[in-house]
Amino acid sequence: MWLPTLLRKRESAIPFIPKDFAYLPNDKYLLYDSAWRGLDALIPELIQKFNIPTNKCLEFGVEFGFSTTVFANYFKDVVGVDIFTGDSHAGLHDDDYKDMIDKVKPWPNIKLIKADYKDYIKNNNEKFDLIHVDIIHNYKETFECGLWAAEHSKMAIFHDTKSFKGVKHAVQDIATKTGKTFHNYQYNNGLGILV
Ligand SMILES: C[S@@+](CC[C@H](N)C(=O)[O-])C[C@H]1O[C@@H](n2cnc3c(N)ncnc32)[C@H](O)[C@@H]1O
Repeated sequence: MWLPTLLRKRESAIPFIPKDFAYLPNDKYLLYDSAWRGLDALIPELIQKFNIPTNKCLEFGVEFGFSTTVFANYFKDVVGVDIFTGDSHAGLHDDDYKDMIDKVKPWPNIKLIKADYKDYIKNNNEKFDLIHVDIIHNYKETFECGLWAAEHSKMAIFHDTKSFKGVKHAVQDIATKTGKTFHNYQYNNGLGILV
C-alpha cells in the first residue's frame, strides 16, 4: 500500500474552535471575492493561542492579495511567493506580478516574489514565524511545499482542507512525518493548522 495512505489511517485533526472572531475592517486588506474571506478573523487568536512571534510571515499563493494583506496587519514583514499566472483550481490568467506590486503598495511591509515554490524552497534554509500555503490544491504540491513550510516555521497554515481532500491528506501526512499537531478549522473551505 502507498505510504501516505498507511500513514493517514488514523484521523488526527483536532477541531479548532475559535473563542473570538476578530474581523478586520474592510479597508485594512485588499477586498475581493476570495475563498479566504472570513479567515482574517482567526489570525489574532492563532497568534496568541500558539504563542507565535509576529516578525516574519511567508505566503505561498498570493493571487490577488487578500490573505497577503491580511497578514500584513499582524506581521512586521510579509513575503508573498506566487507564479502570478494562476493555476487550474484558482483559474489561469495573464501575468499580473507588476499589477500586484502596485496594489500592495499601501502595505510597505509586503515583498512579492515571482517564483514557483519549488525554486523558492530549493537550498533555502530561512525560518519564518508563520507560513501560509495556498497554492494549487493537489496532494503532491501541497505535501512538498507544506513539508518545507512545516520544517521552516513555528506554525504552518493551509487553506482549503475542507474543499480539497488532497490538501487535508497532505496536511495529515506532514503532521505524521514531522510530529506536529494538526488542528483543523472546518469553515471558510477549511484551514489546517500545524504547530
Ligand atoms: C487559491 S490562490 C491563492 C489565494 C489567496 N491566498 C487569497 O487570499 O485569495 C492560489 C495561487 O497559487 C498560485 N500557485 C499555484 N501553483 C503555484 C506554484 N507552484 N508556485 C507558486 N505559486 C503557485 C497561483 O498562481 C494562485 O495565485
